[in-house]
Amino acid sequence: MLRVENAQKDFDGFKAVNGASLSVEKGEIVAVIGPNGAGKTTLFNLITGQLKPNGGTITFLGEDITSMPSHRICKKGIARSFQIANIFHRLSVFRNVQVSVLSQKNRNLNLFLSSDSFFVKETQSILKNAGLADKHQEIAGSLSHGDRRLLEIAIALGNEPRLLILDEPTAGMSPEETATTISLIKRLAETRGLTILFCEHDMDVVFGVSHRIMVMEQGRTLVQGKPDEVKNNLEVQRAYLGTE
Ligand SMILES: Nc1ncnc2c1ncn2[C@@H]1O[C@H](COP(=O)(O)OP(=O)(O)OP(=O)(O)O)[C@@H](O)[C@H]1O
Ligand SMILES: [Mg+2]
Repeated sequence: MLRVENAQKDFDGFKAVNGASLSVEKGEIVAVIGPNGAGKTTLFNLITGQLKPNGGTITFLGEDITSMPSHRICKKGIARSFQIANIFHRLSVFRNVQVSVLSQKNRNLNLFLSSDSFFVKETQSILKNAGLADKHQEIAGSLSHGDRRLLEIAIALGNEPRLLILDEPTAGMSPEETATTISLIKRLAETRGLTILFCEHDMDVVFGVSHRIMVMEQGRTLVQGKPDEVKNNLEVQRAYLGTE
């Protein structure tokens, strides 16, 4: 579904991404791990078109999307959440997701007109999928940190993605919120047939949900493989996981 080959990104000569390669098959959950500053978020920005690479190629469903603008990549079926939650704080949970569904359908939401009736079923179904159905009337800004992150995933689902990219979906979450998010990710992959690429520092999450794992160090790919292969890789143990 997605193939990144030898991606490069310089910031004023500093090589934030320097030879990253990655493949994601349809239906897979793939994690990217690596220390702070390894280039994980930058790599995601290259895939989703927020940043233009200086080198390498990115293909999605067989099409070259390298350097394509982000709105076009989004229309092709890649949606993402950000490391820092990105929501309309003053709108309800329902309206946040509805706005995203409307934009996917090329409709603009006039916030001063009642558009409650647009795409209600679609919006409700996404909220249910994300475990937020009972909170649909709450104001987004008043949600707990964990629910805000779930809302952000729900907003991304409004784009009807084929590939969902999540940047540290459980960052700052309590153990309970983390468990909820893990089961959500698994459920989305299983019931919606969604393909998921995410990065994460919590190794229990990474090894608990991933089919394959890519390890980054200083902008480059050390290895990509099944969880056991990654765990047993000596270079990974040296560079990242420690000797435990
Ligand atoms: N816009 C930018 N301009 C200059 N340097 C940047 C920019 N964005 C990222 N960097 C640098 O590139 C490197 C990789 O950053 P990136 O955010 O991709 O790392 P990361 O793996 O996501 O880290 P973390 O785990 O802390 O989120 C870091 O050294 C960072 O300081
Ligand atoms: Mg990051």
